[in-house]
Amino acid sequence: MTNTITQTAENQPYNIAEWRRGYDSQPNEYEYEITEIEGEIPAELSGTLFRNGPGLLDIGDSAIHHPFDGDGMISAFSFKDGRVHYRNRFVQTEAYAKEQEAGKILYRGVFGTSKPGGWLNNIFDLKLKNIANTGVIYWGDKLLALWEAAEPHRLDPKTLETIGTEYLDGVLEPGDAFAAHPWIDPSCQFDDGAPCLVNFRVDPGLSSKITLFEFAPDGKLLRRHSHSVPGFSFIHDFIITPNYAIFFQNPVNFNPLPFLLGMRGAGECVQFQPDQPTNVILIPRDPNNREIKTFSVESGFVFHHANAFEQGNRVCVDSITYQSLPQVQPDSNYKEVDFDSLDPGQLWRFTLNLDDDTVDRQMLESRCCEFPTHNPDQVGRDYRYLYIGAAANNTGRNAPLQAILKLDLHTGERQLHSFAPSGFVSEPIFVPKPNSDREDAGWVLTLVYDGSKHRSTLAILDGENLAGEAIALLHLKHHVPYGLHGSWCEEVFV
Ligand code: CO
Repeated sequence: MTNTITQTAENQPYNIAEWRRGYDSQPNEYEYEITEIEGEIPAELSGTLFRNGPGLLDIGDSAIHHPFDGDGMISAFSFKDGRVHYRNRFVQTEAYAKEQEAGKILYRGVFGTSKPGGWLNNIFDLKLKNIANTGVIYWGDKLLALWEAAEPHRLDPKTLETIGTEYLDGVLEPGDAFAAHPWIDPSCQFDDGAPCLVNFRVDPGLSSKITLFEFAPDGKLLRRHSHSVPGFSFIHDFIITPNYAIFFQNPVNFNPLPFLLGMRGAGECVQFQPDQPTNVILIPRDPNNREIKTFSVESGFVFHHANAFEQGNRVCVDSITYQSLPQVQPDSNYKEVDFDSLDPGQLWRFTLNLDDDTVDRQMLESRCCEFPTHNPDQVGRDYRYLYIGAAANNTGRNAPLQAILKLDLHTGERQLHSFAPSGFVSEPIFVPKPNSDREDAGWVLTLVYDGSKHRSTLAILDGENLAGEAIALLHLKHHVPYGLHGSWCEEVFV
């Protein structure tokens, strides 16, 4: 897929028209064995890759205003004995079913999608759509599609059919927020080394309540505790270490008036405050320890954290940081984005000093990057290798993600596997090889949109030799719109 050269301008390794078509809706639901394969699927690769993301970018005759408002569609790639089966299904949220039946937009989206008819038809309509489009995880024998502002949807892992909204055995109430970014602690010190799932919810307001949840492998709630922090919070992701959960409170303020008046989506009323610091909030995972620490660091915006680890009385946090965040404008079209005008996401290490409450920060990678991942055994632990979606060229500017970058944090060595000019990557997922101790021994799976063929390909890359040839390229018969997050599960449900 790297053989078509369509370079449009000097230093621009992509064609914007090809990039744009990756945001075409995919209204069809498929299931088939993938047979168009270059290379060979490793026989030891056994399990299921689940991915979530917006499947519809328009409804009836109306385009949605921002991809974050697109209805969630789950893809499942099931690997067994060197073969792979593909299936995709829309999450049958109440709103999805109603809008599909009506053939038009009926709900307001957080990121500015509004019902037709202008502000008069949207005024004081606070009914938001739970679009279930951000994350997907299999835990406690339940497959959950996650969207941070409301409860999860539970799906049948075999058929991807929607079972309904999920309250986790009474842990959540209808309408409760539940973040889309859970982490699995591979060896929890509070549970004799058993793994546990850690997630959170934020109830924002003038002060914000952060609630932390930890679940056992059978899905039972182990620990839950809430903490109040001053100020409005827009927190998408967090990160854990054995002792702490760490949140970056981005410097934003929220003016709800235009949202209430129907003129803007709630997400459009969030304004970045470049003159205010980012607050780093450190919450002990031990529910008996209520001592929260807050650190102040230079302004920046973080969606995603790569990892964190404790080192004596310091905690290191690696995060993708933007110098500023542009406001989603009501009249803007996300497909007409001028990448050069946006700040790039760059990898920074924040070192929190627990003795004097100071923070040092250091840029680890200047190349525009997003969607970091690593060996899941290293969550919250000192780690060496990071894999991340990256721009094809290191211009220090924002650009579409067209490559996977491997970073050796010990030596600084970098390896790049590029799909430019026509390939656009999604979040990589690292699957460790069975029976290997090497941290980078594994497969890096990424779904790549090929703009020259208007279809998607799942690439299996070699975690140890990332820059080398792909182990296998599994070509779908169609495209999957640019997605958000996915996860790997060792079970096969076919
Ligand atoms: Co995310």
